[in-house]
Amino acid sequence: MHTVTVDHILPREKRPVFIIGAGGIVNTAHLPAYRIAGFDVQGIYDITPGRAQDTAHRFSIPHVFETLQAMITHAPANAVFDVAVPGSQTIPVLEQLPEGAAVLLQKPMGENLSEAKKIHRLVKEKNMLAAINFQLRYAPYILAVKKLLREDLLGELNDIEVNVNVYTPWDMWDFLAASPRVEILYHSIHYIDLVRNMLGNPQAVYARTTGHPFMKNMASVRSNIIMNYGEMVRANILTNHCHRYGLPKQQSYIKFEGSRGAVMINFGALINYPRGAADSFEYILLSPEAEPEWKTLPIEGSWFPHAFIGSMAELMLAAEGSIAAPDNSADDCIYTMACVEAAYQSSNNGGTPLADFIENP
Ligand SMILES: NC(=O)c1ccc[n+]([C@@H]2O[C@H](COP(=O)([O-])OP(=O)(O)OC[C@H]3O[C@@H](n4cnc5c(N)ncnc54)[C@H](O)[C@@H]3O)[C@@H](O)[C@H]2O)c1
Repeated sequence: MHTVTVDHILPREKRPVFIIGAGGIVNTAHLPAYRIAGFDVQGIYDITPGRAQDTAHRFSIPHVFETLQAMITHAPANAVFDVAVPGSQTIPVLEQLPEGAAVLLQKPMGENLSEAKKIHRLVKEKNMLAAINFQLRYAPYILAVKKLLREDLLGELNDIEVNVNVYTPWDMWDFLAASPRVEILYHSIHYIDLVRNMLGNPQAVYARTTGHPFMKNMASVRSNIIMNYGEMVRANILTNHCHRYGLPKQQSYIKFEGSRGAVMINFGALINYPRGAADSFEYILLSPEAEPEWKTLPIEGSWFPHAFIGSMAELMLAAEGSIAAPDNSADDCIYTMACVEAAYQSSNNGGTPLADFIENP
């Protein structure tokens, strides 16, 4: 069976990319994606000696810098800076980058809404063209859903459901054990951003995020999030990263339902982590003439790394003037951070107490 390629819209101009941070995500996602897209990576810098050198060697990057300042001095006016450092380093790096620069910042946009606002203020003050790397929006299977919607085959979207039941070894990331926020801030944030990208901003967010006895040293690792879009549209995110019971019942899907069709994406990135499994894309279109039937669309590429083409392409398209602003602009993504903040606040509020209805329940 032939696979279907869902093309990203790519910039016309070749703009040199300068990367800050040569860690896991740059090596496994940014650079493999840029290689596929043909983006011109010109330089890399990492604060840890040797890392930038190793990465440059692996991906044939011509310039390795000893300091951020040296990179800034070298970079031409049309450079794009790709910042992929731990969240706590984003603001100090941004402060040093030049006025008016084009900058892609790794998600999350700071560790809470107050940091997100600080980042937002900073990029405005420095007149930067800033985008955030919330890239699930550009995963090939999501681009395929957007195409079906554009062609008006699914009708009006009225339901999005994300359901994740996997085992995620969060202890692979040291910093997470110390983080006051884990699941929503570092994981479900992708689904929240996706829902916003498809449906716009919700009116409100309800949530409950919970810890797990298997992961007692960590903040909450399971979440139920309801994004409130009023009476006729439903958006639910349900995640459990503690399903330590083998592979047979592990699952992770995103389901979209419209007035005339539906799509079910089983995405494999989280199954048997970090090995992963294949994705599948199934869809059904209602027809007055025939009994509707689920069909499979084999799609080329996946979330990692292909989606990373889209978040960088948006920034480059805006930098060359082909679009007014990146779809993933800091102006837009601050609302994803507001949803995350609302989710944690809702969870802390704990719902409507039973005692409001029955004494001594
Ligand atoms: N979009 C996604 O899906 C996704 C996935 C994983 C990680 N991330 C985010 O990407 C960022 C990096 O994650 P990672 O997994 O690559 O982490 P990592 O620890 O593997 O790499 C971070 C790198 O940044 C370097 N660094 C730290 N401070 C620096 C500074 N001031 N200047 C230059 N380099 C500096 C470190 O030496 C390290 O090499 C984090 O913000 C993380 O939340 C996003």
